[in-house]
Amino acid sequence: MKGETPGKLPRVVVTAPLPGGAAALFEGRARVKLLDRRGPLGEAELGSALRGAAGAVTLLTDPVTRPVLEACPNLKVVSNVAVGTDNIDLEAARMQGVVVTHTPGVLTEATADLAWALILGVARRLVEGDRMVRTGGFSGWEPGLLLGVDLTGKILGVVGMGHIGRAVARRAPAFGMRVVYSQPRRLQDSVESALNARHLPLEDLLAAADVVSLHCPLTPETRRLMNRNRLLAMKPGAILVNTARGPVVDEEALVECLRQGRPFGAGLDVYEREPELAPGLRELPNVLLLPHLGSATKAVREAMARMAVTDCLAVLEGRQPEHWVV
Ligand code: GLV
Repeated sequence: MKGETPGKLPRVVVTAPLPGGAAALFEGRARVKLLDRRGPLGEAELGSALRGAAGAVTLLTDPVTRPVLEACPNLKVVSNVAVGTDNIDLEAARMQGVVVTHTPGVLTEATADLAWALILGVARRLVEGDRMVRTGGFSGWEPGLLLGVDLTGKILGVVGMGHIGRAVARRAPAFGMRVVYSQPRRLQDSVESALNARHLPLEDLLAAADVVSLHCPLTPETRRLMNRNRLLAMKPGAILVNTARGPVVDEEALVECLRQGRPFGAGLDVYEREPELAPGLRELPNVLLLPHLGSATKAVREAMARMAVTDCLAVLEGRQPEHWVV
């Protein structure tokens, strides 16, 4: 066994307090160090915190890079409390024999709900309305007050039809929307017809969709997938929603395009340089900005934490984890 004295409990670092007391699952099975963090950890900080540990339970903001992994030769498992693993150098982990686990499934419906909250919020200008009422700007019903856009009869374009993309697509008929989707591989016919979704190349999707909702993982291929040209290729009245990863959108270009009213509006839960925002973004009226809340319900976050701890223990105890990535 990698770097451990038999009989001694393995050392685990948990990089932030976990909801629902999930860390208690480690009791009697691992020696746990909980990091006392204030804000995101840098590579050097994370590397030194993980040194000597056999297991790590990490957040999606923790940069588990090659240098971090190389500084931790005893590490056997990194359990990310997230479905996305773009914060982890998976190739370096594989090379070093470090198992990486994640938390798929439990967050699918909550994240899809949040994508729809953003779609509806932008289409019907909820934040502007809320602000108007709170600041005393509402002086009675007016025929032309804060007019939004209809969803009924429109087209939803889903970019990335994994579990979350499909859950978003499944909700579309309830709002009277038809679904097109784009991803490198077409879904099986049976899945396509169950979802009533039509596969299109991305450029065609952008030309057709009234709402574009991003659900692809962040990879070298999807980084800045929504660049200036693609943003401008969206229909003039369209809405862009991003609950995937910030760097899938060129945020500076988005600010520029939104200033020109193209797209009509955007709902963002994630940012290119999270938690920073591109200059000008927060001043725009036609954006709804959330602090990365996709999976943020109590039950889901607790389930994610338990899943990560359970998988971390599985690896440390020589069992196959249920949700491994590499
Ligand atoms: C959240 O963004 C996740 O990847 O779980």
